[in-house]
Amino acid sequence: MAETATTSSCWRAPLNLHHHGRWIPTFITTHKTLLAALWIAFFFTVFLWQQRSDAAAGFLVFRRAFSSGAFPKLRPVAFNLTDFGGVGDGITMNTAAFERAVMAISKLRKKGGGQLNVPPGYWLTAPFNLTSHMTLFLAEGAEILGINDEKYWPLLPPLPSYGYGREHPGPRYGSLIHGQNLKDVVITGHNGTINGQGQTWWKKYRQKLLNHTRGPLVQIMYSSDIFVSNITLRDSPFWTFHPYDCKNVTVKNVTILAPIFEAPNTDGIDPDSCVDMVIEDCYISVGDDAIAIKSGWDQYGIAYGRPSKNILIRNLVVRSMVSAGISIGSEMSGGVSNVTVENLFVWNSRRAVRIKTAPGRGGYVRHITYQNVTFENVRVGIVIKTDYNEHPDGGFDPKAVPSLHDINYISIHGEGVRVPVRIHGSEEIPVREVTFRDMSVGIVNKKKHVFQCAFVEGRVIGTVFPAPCENLDLYDEQGHLIRRSTSQNVSDIDYDI
Ligand SMILES: *[C@@H]1O[C@H](CO)[C@@H](O)[C@H](O)[C@H]1NC(C)=O
Ligand SMILES: *[C@@H]1O[C@H](CO)[C@@H](O)[C@H](O)[C@H]1NC(C)=O
Ligand SMILES: *[C@@H]1O[C@H](CO)[C@@H](O)[C@H](O)[C@H]1NC(C)=O
Ligand SMILES: *[C@@H]1O[C@H](CO)[C@@H](O)[C@H](O)[C@H]1NC(C)=O
Ligand SMILES: *[C@@H]1O[C@H](CO)[C@@H](O)[C@H](O)[C@H]1NC(C)=O
Ligand SMILES: *[C@@H]1O[C@H](CO)[C@@H](O)[C@H](O)[C@H]1NC(C)=O
Ligand SMILES: *[C@@H]1O[C@H](CO)[C@@H](O)[C@H](O)[C@H]1NC(C)=O
Ligand SMILES: *[C@@H]1O[C@H](CO)[C@@H](O)[C@H](O)[C@H]1NC(C)=O
Ligand SMILES: *[C@@H]1O[C@H](CO)[C@@H](O)[C@H](O)[C@H]1NC(C)=O
Ligand SMILES: *[C@@H]1O[C@H](CO)[C@@H](O)[C@H](O)[C@H]1NC(C)=O
Repeated sequence: MAETATTSSCWRAPLNLHHHGRWIPTFITTHKTLLAALWIAFFFTVFLWQQRSDAAAGFLVFRRAFSSGAFPKLRPVAFNLTDFGGVGDGITMNTAAFERAVMAISKLRKKGGGQLNVPPGYWLTAPFNLTSHMTLFLAEGAEILGINDEKYWPLLPPLPSYGYGREHPGPRYGSLIHGQNLKDVVITGHNGTINGQGQTWWKKYRQKLLNHTRGPLVQIMYSSDIFVSNITLRDSPFWTFHPYDCKNVTVKNVTILAPIFEAPNTDGIDPDSCVDMVIEDCYISVGDDAIAIKSGWDQYGIAYGRPSKNILIRNLVVRSMVSAGISIGSEMSGGVSNVTVENLFVWNSRRAVRIKTAPGRGGYVRHITYQNVTFENVRVGIVIKTDYNEHPDGGFDPKAVPSLHDINYISIHGEGVRVPVRIHGSEEIPVREVTFRDMSVGIVNKKKHVFQCAFVEGRVIGTVFPAPCENLDLYDEQGHLIRRSTSQNVSDIDYDI
């Protein structure tokens, strides 16, 4: 089955992992010859056409396009990193080259912006900023390497909705690739890589040698129209891609990797106070949550008050041995609403989909739908946890309780699951309007109470396996009430299974 898979979708990633190595090289070589021939024919045609339609400017543009070889031209002007003195030997620092390139592109905004091509090679750099109307294009075999000596990493003020560096009070390290107040930024390529070389950071973090919160790999703040596709992000020091207070962000066909153990806090994508976001066709296997939707922390997040909303996550294969595939929270104090997760495959993971919060957070999680989710070999499938007590400081208000309601699980399948459902509401934070419809999950042992609930109000429609908890009302397929629950508040939570 894997061999015949011609689709490039991420679905088959876990199945294909071992086959890729075998069939890709021959496929690529024949393909490359063909492609090269096509390119030559194409450029020759363009060359003739350009000559006839004269214009020195046109010729220059053509020369640039030609010199960038396999780089498609996605902006009116394209540069090669080497034009700015870049050296891809893995040793030379390229920070100044990136900064000069970004400066040149920042002057082209009225002309539709510019593209920076990063050729094959290892491009070591300290953190640098992007600019608006910019496309960063990573060739196949291009790898941007983040320098792992923290003295090259500038400190930035805490995020306003966290009030705190997250791991340490005070400032935090910025991200390797950073941007604020931008519009129209594209990071793409032929599967080139941005590599945070996180190993040193994780080690120092564990040994408590860092005085400030580690930096993300890519962080874009207060920006709109951000598009990330066709690249690999790996070994981030901290969260991998962190869009913060952004609008209209798309992540498509991206691979995100970090070791599944001992790569602390290497979340894949953290949409944080973001609206209108799509994450699709990605493969994510990391040392913490694959995706964690957030909106600020306790009193700081409540004061900042920007929700994450209108987020669509689909066609993903994810793996998280330490945390969960898709999380919401635990920092959700600005609110999270209208999130759809569909066609999700979670494999060899500790948890599949989780909502986590605590008294003190305030905010809400509502209008959430998970549809067509498959678990394969996960410990706990669906989780809602309302006592995730981790606070920035003692200044949180324990009476600020979050509200959780309108949460829907539709077409949930899978096998090898220990606890398919654990919805742990509490007297202070009951979980309301939960719906289960069409669920069949194969469990690893025949224990009772694997569908665990406490303080949950909602319903089950049609057939659901394993047998749902007594907290939920039962309806038939046609939506007729069969049995109303009399025990919404009873607790059947058992962390020992
Ligand atoms: C980028 O520039 C370097 C040095 O000028 C050149 O060797 C390389 O071929 C260029 N890359 C592309 C893809 O044009
Ligand atoms: C990068 O952007 C940050 C935030 O806007 C700013 O503080 C910093 O000075 C910028 N760095 C450079 C080198 O421009
Ligand atoms: C996904 O990206 C890879 C390179 O990273 C590319 O080869 C493939 O064609 C892309 N798939 C789609 C559907 O765009
Ligand atoms: C892109 O590169 C990553 C890391 O090298 C690899 O795991 C992934 O399979 C590649 N994706 C495609 C579509 O070739
Ligand atoms: C952290 O702070 C201590 C005490 O101020 C200092 O000795 C140490 O060098 C700092 N470490 C780093 C990585 O900045
Ligand atoms: C969202 O951003 C994309 C680029 O990523 C752009 O093409 C699109 O027009 C933007 N949508 C809106 C509604 O602004
Ligand atoms: C991804 O790469 C493929 C192959 O080069 C290309 O056809 C596709 O348009 C790219 N997709 C995006 C979203 O960049
Ligand atoms: C919910 O989000 C989707 C995008 O996932 C958007 O199309 C829809 O309009 C949003 N609904 C509301 C009520 O805002
Ligand atoms: C459900 O998701 C799986 C991947 O987990 C996908 O292969 C399948 O096509 C999806 N089904 C539908 C009806 O979209
Ligand atoms: C169940 O708990 C909810 C919220 O904690 C409370 O409002 C309700 O009165 C309780 N119901 C019963 C029957 O005790």
